[in-house]
Amino acid sequence: MADGRGHSRSALEVALERALAALGRGLYRGFARRAIASRLAGTREISRTRIELARGAPGLAGLRIAFLSDLHAGNYFGEDDWLAVCERVAREAPDLVCLGGDLINLFEHETHLLRKGLALLEPPLGRFAVPGNHEYHAAEEPQLWRSVLEDCGVEVLWNRGLRIGRGGASLWLCGVDDLRRGEPDLAQALDGAADHEPRVLLSHNPDLFIDAARAGVDLQLSGHTHGGQIVFRGYTPLRHSRFGFWAGHYRREGAQLYVGRGVGTTALPLRIGAPAEIAIIELRREQAERGPS
Ligand SMILES: [Fe+2]
Repeated sequence: MADGRGHSRSALEVALERALAALGRGLYRGFARRAIASRLAGTREISRTRIELARGAPGLAGLRIAFLSDLHAGNYFGEDDWLAVCERVAREAPDLVCLGGDLINLFEHETHLLRKGLALLEPPLGRFAVPGNHEYHAAEEPQLWRSVLEDCGVEVLWNRGLRIGRGGASLWLCGVDDLRRGEPDLAQALDGAADHEPRVLLSHNPDLFIDAARAGVDLQLSGHTHGGQIVFRGYTPLRHSRFGFWAGHYRREGAQLYVGRGVGTTALPLRIGAPAEIAIIELRREQAERGPS
């Protein structure tokens, strides 16, 4: 299923990442810093996607999830940027807020940058998070990341799930560890789900979708790819999905996947052809939408 815990980056990947980060830091200074930060913030979009689910009771129809991944806090994304994003999310009044990993960039203390913004988010059905590969770049066992989030009232779904009730209906919300750097355990995350409940899975890496579809997941929410982040005529140097799950909505074996382009940036403080995204996902019932035939 997974590439395996401890799948480490190659020396070339590490060298390239460091060179890009150094170049990015060089660009991100003084007047240029303000101009770049304001451009990144000004182009960040709110996307709205309706997902029709075959499974689930009528009470779930209209449930809205704010899905935010790849903040990379500490890397061209500071406390004020996060506050501004959270103000926009709070105005959307979602039922759930799900954080899809890579919330920090390289250091666990960057998690503290999220405290003030998280205090603005009080969705009625809760706030949830899973780790991404960058949480593992920050620490072999990102426990400080976890404890800061939990202190802020965020439930970390680390290979586990729970029942979310709404309008007399329920869904199984679960999350897994990072596919590339952690030890995702889908069976453990799905353990406890009832047959009639839609299973919504948070997995930082979209490539878990192949396994998730086979395991009966109805909807997977992922990030990691940044939508390519820098895209020229369909080509991107950031190839973060082996199966082409770059951005947007995919279907496979009755399951669905939504890949967000991410809230922040990595490597270079630049996005071309792949603007940052605050994803609002609205769940609908498949049959209810079509009406009587
Ligand atoms: Fe990321």
